Amino acid sequence: MKQIVIGGKKVSNVALGIMRMDALDTDAATKVIETAVDNGVNFIDTADIYGGGKSDLVFRDALAKSSVSRDDLWIQSKVGIQNGNDDGSGKPYGNRYNFSKQHIIDAVNHELESLNLDYLDSVLLHRPDPLMEPDKVAEAFDELQTAGKVRHFGVSNFNPMQFEMLQRAVSQKLMFNQLQFGIMHSNMIDFGMHTNMQDDRGVDHDGQFLEYSRIHDIVIQAWSPYQWGNFNGPFIDNPKFPELNKKMQELADQYGVTKNAIATAWILRHPAKFQVLVGSMNPQHIKESLAGSDVELTGQEWYDVYYAAGNDMP
Ligand SMILES: NC(=O)c1ccc[n+]([C@@H]2O[C@H](COP(=O)([O-])OP(=O)(O)OC[C@H]3O[C@@H](n4cnc5c(N)ncnc54)[C@H](OP(=O)(O)O)[C@@H]3O)[C@@H](O)[C@H]2O)c1
Repeated sequence: MKQIVIGGKKVSNVALGIMRMDALDTDAATKVIETAVDNGVNFIDTADIYGGGKSDLVFRDALAKSSVSRDDLWIQSKVGIQNGNDDGSGKPYGNRYNFSKQHIIDAVNHELESLNLDYLDSVLLHRPDPLMEPDKVAEAFDELQTAGKVRHFGVSNFNPMQFEMLQRAVSQKLMFNQLQFGIMHSNMIDFGMHTNMQDDRGVDHDGQFLEYSRIHDIVIQAWSPYQWGNFNGPFIDNPKFPELNKKMQELADQYGVTKNAIATAWILRHPAKFQVLVGSMNPQHIKESLAGSDVELTGQEWYDVYYAAGNDMP
């Protein structure tokens, strides 16, 4: 498993995302954590909203039961999405993104309690709140860091201008941006190749975060790496994508791995600082996906997979 250095610490360039862990019992979740760690993962990604909060609870119990030590993991959570009805407690309710100082601090405290942790290695703001006041976010970050509750910060689904606006206000370097990216969600590549053309691929969907991340040394955490569309299901072994699966199988046979590994390797072949968030809850799929960290596709193989996914070279 290859590693990248973040905040002076070496972390695996493939992480385990636990968004789907709410569906597991403690034993199955323990196996998932142990499989990931035994195969080189030391980075966990969660969010307060996953499974309505249940994913965190399952993870907490499974980690306690597992052979894995918390100190050997980088545990990251995301806050800033507020969901819910008025429960009469006086807490904020309603569906919105909420980057108010109070919400960020309350949500992190809630995460620490749910996960039974003293601190989080990193916290990301989940989706940009149009009402964000960067100075208030800065106060929340400072308070959380000074209290020793959060070590590092980042964002998720931000465009470069949103990122820069927040970065100018906060005292910490924003180290991560989580964005959907993979063979079947390659807008960031498409736009770069189709700049100033009149076809759909020439549409800028993300404000060119890919280039921005390289200029400013920001880790892009690729979410839903094996999904097509927005949660439409995996493209691996999907009969909708015969050419792509044929090409991935050909490369998988050549490298002695599976198609999951090729899909991982395709992301990591890009020279930006990528980290892949694997969301499978099946130990076999997890192992196969992680194996891609050690596969280095040639440049031509990378392009060939891109074409097999239905893309062109203008
Ligand atoms: N920041 C954000 O807005 C955001 C949004 C979404 C997700 N995320 C993060 O990204 C992580 C990953 O997201 P994700 O779970 O959507 O990503 P994913 O890893 O692309 O998808 C996982 C799903 O694909 C299935 N799968 C994987 N390989 C397969 C194969 N060979 N055959 C059949 N099914 C296969 C898995 O089923 P099995 O379990 O059966 O393998 C699981 O249902 C999340 O856990 C979360 O941490 C962040």
